[in-house]
Amino acid sequence: MAKVFVTRALPFPALDRLREAHEVEEWPGELPPEDLGAHLGEAEGLLSLVTDRVDASVIESAPRLKAIANMAVGTDNIDLEAAAARGIPVGNTPDVLTDATADLAFALLLALARRIVPGSEMVRSGAWRTWEPAADLGADLAEATLGIVGWGRIGQAVARRAEGFGMEIVHSSRSSGVPLEELLERADFVTLHTPLTPETRHLIDADALARMKPTALLVNTARGGVVDQDALRTALHEGTIAGAALDVTDPEPLPADHPLLDAPNLLVVPHVGSATVRTRAKMAAMAVDNLLAALDGRPMPYPVT
Ligand code: DGY
Repeated sequence: MAKVFVTRALPFPALDRLREAHEVEEWPGELPPEDLGAHLGEAEGLLSLVTDRVDASVIESAPRLKAIANMAVGTDNIDLEAAAARGIPVGNTPDVLTDATADLAFALLLALARRIVPGSEMVRSGAWRTWEPAADLGADLAEATLGIVGWGRIGQAVARRAEGFGMEIVHSSRSSGVPLEELLERADFVTLHTPLTPETRHLIDADALARMKPTALLVNTARGGVVDQDALRTALHEGTIAGAALDVTDPEPLPADHPLLDAPNLLVVPHVGSATVRTRAKMAAMAVDNLLAALDGRPMPYPVT
């Protein structure tokens, strides 16, 4: 039996398989452990979440660590090089959250385009006076151009949804599609589906925003760091673009008094791209499968490194 540290209570059936095979310590807090390294002195396995920064110093404080299973497809919270230097395999949960995340990107796109949140607020505040012929007008999706930045599983799943809505699709990635500049200039809606890497940090900066149409809407369900939030705030205040919807921010959580939140036409939700009952249960199962394999000396079924 190996000692495994799980960084949050995970109420999913798959955890029973882990508890049966190993000595599992589950962090009981509602918030992530502040000093993760302090809990890893004896740990051979780590089940981490996107909220856990598994950096070189955390890895160093875990001398017996043999496996890291991140319950996420993204692994920008983990220092992969530091793990590789110690020969610690890292696994993630690809594929399984593709549809849920693409659904959320589309939900945000529709919410922005059809002004769902302002409309709801108007009703609740008592400001709804009559059926207005020329107020609360949104943007059509049909015949509009959707620019998809990143052409991995999630970007392509968003494209499939967009086809059903009659949108024109243009994409940009490292290996295919059109140059990002062209996409930004052509698109009526821009949706981000690229991992956060040193190359993609602040990919959407002031210059990129300036290329977008003043009527364009931006959706980010990738990682907060892909967008320069100061530049986005300015762009929204100055009308450089018409609106933005973010599932991801930098930092997370975004404090309620963060300056970004005073920007107009901004919708922010709390990193819920994969938050469906079935998807989260599958993610937990994959993370458990990764740990069970690695702690048994077998290759992880869903390896990152
Ligand atoms: C991921 O998996 O990377 C998401 O951001 C969290 O589900």
